[in-house]
Amino acid sequence: MPAPQSPARRTVLRGAAALAGAAGAGVTLAACSTETNSGGNTPATPTEPVDLGAAADVPVGGAKLYREKKLIVSCPAEGQYKAFSAQCTHAGCVLDKIVEGEGNCPCHGSRFDVTTGKVLRGPASEPLPAVPVRAENGNLVAG
Ligand code: FES
Repeated sequence: MPAPQSPARRTVLRGAAALAGAAGAGVTLAACSTETNSGGNTPATPTEPVDLGAAADVPVGGAKLYREKKLIVSCPAEGQYKAFSAQCTHAGCVLDKIVEGEGNCPCHGSRFDVTTGKVLRGPASEPLPAVPVRAENGNLVAG
């Protein structure tokens, strides 16, 4: 006949079960899901020209994120502009900020070079798609 469990042993077992549950929840939260996709179902690149406002808003040698339009524009030299989709190629979240020349994805931490679209840190493995951009009368038009 098995000996009854001591209260201390039951407490340890309960604690282990709670930890296992927490670890399971952590895995669930870290898993990729379309539910974390804040990019919606719209295309990653514009299907028609998008007016981005004053070209002067993009600093020379820097970049600007147009989050609501899902675009990043960089300006490597005066008068030269490069645009990329700001929709992460991993699971489709929209990048949330530019940190030291790197576009940051808030969902799983991917980083992209905003002057080339190249992946600097995964889990994304594909670069941001380039989008044509031009300056017209001091305004940027992408797509
Ligand atoms: S959606 Fe996963 S890192 Fe961007």
